[in-house]
Amino acid sequence: MDVIHTVSELRTRLREERRVALVPTMGNLHEGHIQLIRIAKPRAACLVASIFVNRLQFGPKDDYDRYPRTLDPDCEKLAAAGCHVVFAPNEKIVYPEPQTFTVDPTASLQNILEGEFRPGHFRGVATVVLKLFNMVQPQVAIFGKKDYQQYLVLRDMVRQFELPIDIIPAETVRADDGLALSSRNGYLSALERVEAIRLYQALHKIRGAIYAGERDFAKLEREASAQLDAAGWKTDYVAVRRQQDLLEATTQERRLVVLGASRLGSTRLIDNLEINL
Ligand code: PAJ
Repeated sequence: MDVIHTVSELRTRLREERRVALVPTMGNLHEGHIQLIRIAKPRAACLVASIFVNRLQFGPKDDYDRYPRTLDPDCEKLAAAGCHVVFAPNEKIVYPEPQTFTVDPTASLQNILEGEFRPGHFRGVATVVLKLFNMVQPQVAIFGKKDYQQYLVLRDMVRQFELPIDIIPAETVRADDGLALSSRNGYLSALERVEAIRLYQALHKIRGAIYAGERDFAKLEREASAQLDAAGWKTDYVAVRRQQDLLEATTQERRLVVLGASRLGSTRLIDNLEINL
């Protein structure tokens, strides 16, 4: 496996490759990220993982500085999974000058849910992913449904700009107790780690209620949010939405997703579950 830090080395390495898959990450890799590599494997001859903590998508109060940077163990995991190239640029490579051109995702998608609580987040994500696409020029890219809204933003960006890249979604990988794997789980204390499954359980309960016929989504959202907060969480949102665009769902809608974001101590966790009626 080649570990590459510059765009010129990357272009040289990929020049002869005819079918490249890209898995963009911010590193501190876990089984969720590795699953994306496995999904990429049958779809391309050359598997590239990028590792870059993208300042542009972090808000002033976000955890950019404390975000874990673990390049060596990340490379070991990627090599073991059969990755061919790791692209790990530094900030000077990705942002050699201030990034004054940016990608502004659809307002109705970027300003809701995560976007409401993290203004500018999806502009930062879309901008860096477009840059990574141009640097790597992959035919396929894999994104996790763990970050459901991010997946939709990037899927729509590729469609609207006619980028010749297949976007493949990957299911969320969870720990045995249901907690969605996330680099941010490492911030949790042992006690918080036990408590952390409450978010998943709240979404799971809503999914069960909807499968059982409940259609008062606002009531389900309110109850879940109140239960989390009663247990000491600070909930940003719990929302039942349409899968296709995350707009509010009518009771007729058959493709739903319930999404939640809540803060446990100083750690902000997000999760979601699809509901197919
Ligand atoms: P990061 O949080 O490192 O996630 C990289 C990819 O792994 C994303 O597509 C994310 O959805 C996926 N992922 C994370 N946890 C997962 C899990 N438990 N199961 C399945 N997939 C999971 O998302 C980003 O980085 C950044 O925003 C990025 C796209 C790299 C742009 O900077």
